[in-house]
Amino acid sequence: MIEDLWYKNSIIYSLDLETFMDANGDGVGDFEGLMQRLDYLDSLGVDTIWLAPFQPTPNRDNGYDISDYYGVDPRHGSSGAFVEFMHQAHKRGIKVIIDLVVNHTSDQHPWFQEARNPQSPYHDWYVWQEKRPSDWNEGMVFPGVQESTWTYDKKAKQYYFHRFYDFQPDLNMENTDVRAEVQRIMGYWLQLGVAGFRVDAVPFILETPAPGQKKPQLRFEYLAELRRFLQWRRGDAILLGEANVMPEETKNYFGEHGEGIHMMFNFYVNQYLFYALATADVAPLADALRATQALFPTAQWAQFLRNHDELDLGRLTEEQRQRVFERFGPDPTMQLYERGIRRRLSPMIGNRPQSELAYSLLFSLPGTPVIRYGDEIGMGDDLSLKERDAVRTPMQWSDDRQAGFSVADHTIHPLIDQGPYRYARINVEAQQRDKDSLLGWMTRMIRLRKQCPEIGWGEWQLLDTKVPTVLAMRYEWRGNALLLLHNFDQRAREVRLTLPDETGETLVNLLEEETCTAEADGAHLIILEGYGYRWFRIGDLRHVLRRSTH
Ligand code: NOJ
Repeated sequence: MIEDLWYKNSIIYSLDLETFMDANGDGVGDFEGLMQRLDYLDSLGVDTIWLAPFQPTPNRDNGYDISDYYGVDPRHGSSGAFVEFMHQAHKRGIKVIIDLVVNHTSDQHPWFQEARNPQSPYHDWYVWQEKRPSDWNEGMVFPGVQESTWTYDKKAKQYYFHRFYDFQPDLNMENTDVRAEVQRIMGYWLQLGVAGFRVDAVPFILETPAPGQKKPQLRFEYLAELRRFLQWRRGDAILLGEANVMPEETKNYFGEHGEGIHMMFNFYVNQYLFYALATADVAPLADALRATQALFPTAQWAQFLRNHDELDLGRLTEEQRQRVFERFGPDPTMQLYERGIRRRLSPMIGNRPQSELAYSLLFSLPGTPVIRYGDEIGMGDDLSLKERDAVRTPMQWSDDRQAGFSVADHTIHPLIDQGPYRYARINVEAQQRDKDSLLGWMTRMIRLRKQCPEIGWGEWQLLDTKVPTVLAMRYEWRGNALLLLHNFDQRAREVRLTLPDETGETLVNLLEEETCTAEADGAHLIILEGYGYRWFRIGDLRHVLRRSTH
């Protein structure tokens, strides 16, 4: 049954071991600490945890520079602790997906160290050129902080290619030994029980870098090869790709007949979502949603608000980008790589009601929502930290010393202890006791999202509200339907809507005691507060429950 595709409707929570919970008191989060917090995640309603890289690493790019794919960095515990954690997660019915970072390794990886000898069989595991390519300082992912894409290695006496920092040499995916090794890595972690992989930097894995080449060819068949292997090993495991690409390119990634990756982050919608939040103009967001609507039935979008990187606005027009910068990142210290904003959600767009609007919208978007740790309590950022570290401060558990994250004096990143987002004010413990807290609201919304499988599975359409600041979506699946409304304006707005449904004369508010009945002409008149939202079931609720398959 198609319903078995668990990833079509799951609540994914993204966290980094390093900053989540430190149990052994060395200032760095670990598996033991994460295990202590599993009940918290369970009670929040999390179905799937996405773990950022936790393998041995020199840690020069937040762990995205791996030096051993088959281990656990000792700062986070041991392989034994990982297995114990997996057991505890599974006991609670929580799935775990992990990062697969195979576009590049750390330059400290023994493979690269070996590869520096041109006679070594490992030499061809990386991408080399004898002469400095003419485009050696083009195509950087982190302009401003990254100076080149080809760097001279003194030992090899050759230039190696690195799409990211110079300490992250790209693996040569043309080499069948490398591809076989990637499968071994996947097989290893699948055997330990992971439910899939968040595949880092997908377009760059697929490219074959060559000097002077403006637009490298992408080998999409490699994704099908990865998927085949994955599915042979574990039928229900998934690949969730990080690929910030234009809508028309996505079919290549998912595969014409679903033979590519299962899920992709919807970066395109994400950027227009922030444009809508910044300007209250929902038309471009509506266009972005339509542009990414057609999907093969087994494919799925991962929708998100913020992640561990900057908010990338590279897909907006120059003018649109400037408007988002003006509103959410006016200060140059908030901006990064000429295209993004290095801020957390709450300080950027406002706590409540704006964060509620944004998260309600996220849960209502077609796809599977991914929540960033700390957003559920409205954590802040620390702009004094370098680059993307601004959004990577430790989780604020309580108002104890170091927010209950660690007993160490020095933590991997400092806690936020000043200003409106200080842990004395914003923390899990306080919000658990406060029934009106953001955390309480989020828990309730997650529960509601789970009662609306239409969103993960169903057909959807945008309804014309004639109000430029209100987005109206209608979902339908197996005879049940939903109407979801979001007003991006700070002022209240009134919409008039006629629904195509036979049972459309009644709307039942799923969050409050309210039932709307259509007027004589069949239209509904709905007033939304400033930044207001509504989740309605279309039709009488009893009728809905009778027909529900869940
Ligand atoms: C994308 C990751 O999200 C980012 O954090 C990292 O720096 C690059 N890939 C390189 O691995």
